[in-house]
Amino acid sequence: MKIGVIGAGAMGSGIAQAFAQCEGFEVSLCDIKPEWAAGGKAKIASALGKRVSRGKMTQEAADVILNRITTGLKEDICQDCDLIVEAAFEDLGVKQKTFGELDAICKPECVFTSNTSSLSITAIAKNIKHPVVGMHFFNPAPVMKLVEVIAGVNSPAEAVQTVKEIASKINKTPVEVTEAAGFIVNRILIPEINEAAFIKMEGVATIADIDAAMKLGANVPMGPLELGDYIGLDIVVAIMDVMFNNTHDAKYRCCPLLRKMVFGGHLGVKSGKGFYNYANGGKVATDAQ
Ligand code: CAA
Repeated sequence: MKIGVIGAGAMGSGIAQAFAQCEGFEVSLCDIKPEWAAGGKAKIASALGKRVSRGKMTQEAADVILNRITTGLKEDICQDCDLIVEAAFEDLGVKQKTFGELDAICKPECVFTSNTSSLSITAIAKNIKHPVVGMHFFNPAPVMKLVEVIAGVNSPAEAVQTVKEIASKINKTPVEVTEAAGFIVNRILIPEINEAAFIKMEGVATIADIDAAMKLGANVPMGPLELGDYIGLDIVVAIMDVMFNNTHDAKYRCCPLLRKMVFGGHLGVKSGKGFYNYANGGKVATDAQ
């Protein structure tokens, strides 16, 4: 089965790896510049290289995975894909344009999916002839076991079923969701990160103590503030805003501290600074900075 992954950023390359790790899948990893797509494959090679150096995988096994991934432009390498997973920039206009172009490129039986973290699948699918379903992976995509499969108003039931079956084939657990802002996980997880930011803003506890409290008291692998940095604070703010704008429910109001940090370019791991400072490969809480 051939999978077209659109967008070779952190999520796109992780999704490409998740498919390529399984026998029976070939991946066309695309971006708007061929060198960006190649960069996504280089990220996968580096992640696999770390596993090889730790003795968790042989170089031969890593090469098999990498050989299943072709990089390039969607115009050139997506014609014969059976499934598209779009992981492009999180903007409705960008996604609608991307699917509009894919509509003209892909074979008619190809199922389109979007890895959007909160946008409406129904809106993304507007004017698209191919069936469109949500297929939401979690970061890091090669590791996290869940895939939310989201049915928009016009998603055909057979396409939803196909996507669930494909998720199972790559050893993920699919959970079906009827479209609603935030789906399941982000609707619960992102307000938790937002609440942790309020706790920090009010001076209730330090960053390290908020994270330690949740790690030790709720048994989660990462505290909410380090997880916010990991996801990207700009994404956290964008998801809070989508949930608030869809519901006008005050429980989804974005913490002003988060918005201020995003305005200041403190986006978390990807910008080198968020609740923690990641300079020189370190991780130092920013309370005193
Ligand atoms: N790509 C590929 N593999 C990765 C990886 C990555 N980016 N990060 C970690 N791994 C692999 C490692 O290679 C390792 O595999 P092996 O044991 O087979 O070698 C395994 O994952 C564990 O990694 P580590 O030992 O380095 O570290 P860890 O045990 O501390 O786990 C973690 C790291 C998996 C990220 C863990 O901290 C975790 O689960 N954190 C929470 C992540 C989370 O909540 N994600 C959801 C975010 S919300 C989201 O994504 C949705 C959205 O729309 C915003």
